[in-house]
Amino acid sequence: MPDPRLAELCRRLPELRLLTEPGDLEHYGRDWTRRWTPAPLAIALPASVDEVQAIVRWANEQQVAVVPSGGRTGLSGGAVAANGELVLSMERMNRVLAFNAVDRTLTVQPGMILQQVHEAAREHGLLYPVDFAARGSCSIGGNIATNAGGIRVIRYGNTREWIAGLKVIAGDGELLDLNRGLIKNSSGYDFRQLMIGSEGTLGIVVEATLKLTDPPPPSQVMLLALPDMDALMEVFALFRERLALQAFEFFTDRALQHVLAHGAQHAIEGDHPYYVVTEFDAASEQQQETALAAFGHALEQGWVSDGVIAQSEAQAAALWRLREGITESLAPRRPYKNDVSVRISAVPAFLCEMQALLAHEYPGIEVVWFGHIGDGNLHINVLRPDDLAEDAFIAQCEQVTKLLAVTLHCHGGSISAEHGIGLVKRAYLASTRSAAEIALMRGVRKVFDPHGILNPGKLFAAD
Ligand code: MLT
Ligand code: ZN
Repeated sequence: MPDPRLAELCRRLPELRLLTEPGDLEHYGRDWTRRWTPAPLAIALPASVDEVQAIVRWANEQQVAVVPSGGRTGLSGGAVAANGELVLSMERMNRVLAFNAVDRTLTVQPGMILQQVHEAAREHGLLYPVDFAARGSCSIGGNIATNAGGIRVIRYGNTREWIAGLKVIAGDGELLDLNRGLIKNSSGYDFRQLMIGSEGTLGIVVEATLKLTDPPPPSQVMLLALPDMDALMEVFALFRERLALQAFEFFTDRALQHVLAHGAQHAIEGDHPYYVVTEFDAASEQQQETALAAFGHALEQGWVSDGVIAQSEAQAAALWRLREGITESLAPRRPYKNDVSVRISAVPAFLCEMQALLAHEYPGIEVVWFGHIGDGNLHINVLRPDDLAEDAFIAQCEQVTKLLAVTLHCHGGSISAEHGIGLVKRAYLASTRSAAEIALMRGVRKVFDPHGILNPGKLFAAD
């Protein structure tokens, strides 16, 4: 017998596409964490703002929780539906709505895939600069919900910097038109910024106006091999001072081994514990010479042991693959992930303590590190040994995360740099945000979503 709540939804929105097959519930009910068993009530695929609004109003009346859903590439369980929620997939709302050459903005629907946003900007000779490996699957709405960062934050900042305006349906079903693309708008609270990074707990993005910028100048990509961790910050300081960096990404030999086993081609001979892929402006011969001189200096100082500069776009892509392929190569192992950040100046001290902590707490367990070291953001991926049951493994990792949270707190860092809190890091929110802040966050949520129907249980436990 059909669920009476769904029957009522169908009565109100006869055109709404609604999925209830077990395969669909499983597909749309989970994200890349793969830790929770999906169990949504149904999947709604609205095609218009009006439909989203009507669904949210229905959800309030029927007391059905709603999980907004984009590309579900999230790594913190933010898009998981495991408790009879209605998944609101934005995948049919995936079009460009407008381009404005004077404002240099692109207005898009939330289900648009990031890579398509890049292509749409490029068609107008401009750049939407937020970028990361999941670009082919993640949606712009999800990027906004998590304030996604990625590989070019060092140059362009996070998603937050690139949102000129948002239309959202708040938890009570109200349509809000936030900031309307204005550059200057000193008229009180900026709810647009509040929505960014709110993980679907305050409103559902139904339209976004994105800022675009000039395409970057021609660049070069370099792979560096490093002898030790201390060298990493030395090379970073040197390169940042002398070059116009577009990216500065770090990974360990362990990470590299996984990517190579996954089909990537290595570019440097020999064994090296650490690597960096960096991209920098190289429009002129002088910039290229400066880069070579910086590399030469790092070599002389013993901060790098080897390096290679891409000689073609194909080679640049191959070098990037060594870094960008890590997540995919680890995915079959379903790693336990930490995504932490500290201020750049605190990275050396934090790294030192963290390395000691992980070595002590994970004896005999493979830990794979990589990340956006130039932003102070490290990804720690712990791989479950075959002889350890999943539950016991997660329990052990949670204990270590508690210790890591203390270390982060001492260094003024964050338990989530860019993946979001979701379900995965909910228990550790208090290591990064004060009790007063969390109380205010809960209060804000009540204002925007009085009946608590939007993504309950994410960010903090439901009331
Ligand atoms: C990355 O930097 O590649 C992403 O944050 C994904 C990940 O951490 O696995
Ligand atoms: Zn990352």
